[in-house]
Amino acid sequence: MNVLGIETSCDETAAAVVAEGRKILSNVVWSQVATHHPYGGVVPELASRQHIEKIVPVVQEALSRAGTTVEDLEAVAVTRGPGLVGALLVGLSFAKAFAYAENLPLIGVNHLEGHVAAVYLEPTPPPFPFVALLASGGHTNLEYVVDHRHMVHLGGTRDDAAGEAFDKVAKLLGLGYPGGTVIDKMSRRGNPDHVRFPRIMLDKTGFDFSFSGLKTAVVRYVHKQQAAGTLRVADTVSAFQEAVVDVLVAKAIAAARAKQCEHLAVVGGVASNTRLRTRLIEEGTRAGIQIHIPRPALCTDNAAMIAAMGYWRASQARGVPLELDAFSKVCRWKHPKAPEELKSCGS
Ligand code: KG4
Ligand code: ZN
Repeated sequence: MNVLGIETSCDETAAAVVAEGRKILSNVVWSQVATHHPYGGVVPELASRQHIEKIVPVVQEALSRAGTTVEDLEAVAVTRGPGLVGALLVGLSFAKAFAYAENLPLIGVNHLEGHVAAVYLEPTPPPFPFVALLASGGHTNLEYVVDHRHMVHLGGTRDDAAGEAFDKVAKLLGLGYPGGTVIDKMSRRGNPDHVRFPRIMLDKTGFDFSFSGLKTAVVRYVHKQQAAGTLRVADTVSAFQEAVVDVLVAKAIAAARAKQCEHLAVVGGVASNTRLRTRLIEEGTRAGIQIHIPRPALCTDNAAMIAAMGYWRASQARGVPLELDAFSKVCRWKHPKAPEELKSCGS
């Protein structure tokens, strides 16, 4: 089964064709980074407008690179949330029109489940059950993944997401957007022990995270050093990154241990962080836990992961009605009053 995936939840316009939920036939991502860079973050209105301009050429490119025609497709999977509603609606409206015109089933995909599905696209996916750490610009979650369609939420951030903290610290220091990639690179020539920032929630049991206190500690430190003329940017970002990595690694390994899982998947944009990848593999080896991290292009937003997740939803139900709506934060289809047919299209 070939599934066309469409992803427009934030600042990437993406389309992909995936066969049997496993094999990537094409994976096209149009990044809007250049548009948002001057603002130090994503401007929602600009994101929606760029999605409108790019969605048709990006889908055409995905079909052409896959060597498939519309006749070779069996379903259209699209991200319906969480994300920026205006941005989501562009992908969703396109997917509805495309599915209607081509008489294909429409599958709504939860963006977070999509991130986890990125590991199914790698040569050796983790066996079920496994624990997944999802660290992105909007979320920092620990999930117990029972099978392709079911996961149990173990914990999440109480305030800022890990990626958001990277972006805010980069903005504070005028390093540009997205902050994660810049800080990752700059930290390689910094000293992670230059200053010790707080490891919030590390001393607490449970699997919740909190990164806003760390961000505030960095802001205070930077202002103080700037006033004294002693700010060392590479050392500061390296020490900040180390604090984030310490917490993510410790909580993720603890969650895998608590659930007696020998396999830990790490997904989402922050999973492309080189220091995090190195530390996870070191600590995982020590704890007897195998770490599964998708290649960087599958960690950040892409449509191959949406098509992969769509495959598992499509094999469960023949599409959802064209009334399918976008959602920004909560999983509305889980609401007791949600129509039955929508409840089957994600969790
Ligand atoms: O998964 P993603 O592409 O989009 C969301 O669903 O949010 O994640 C984007 C986030 C941004 O906050 C970005 O700064 C962060 O992932 N990120 C990184 C790295 N690459 C992207 N954070 C740390 N290190 C990186 N190398
Ligand atoms: Zn994402």
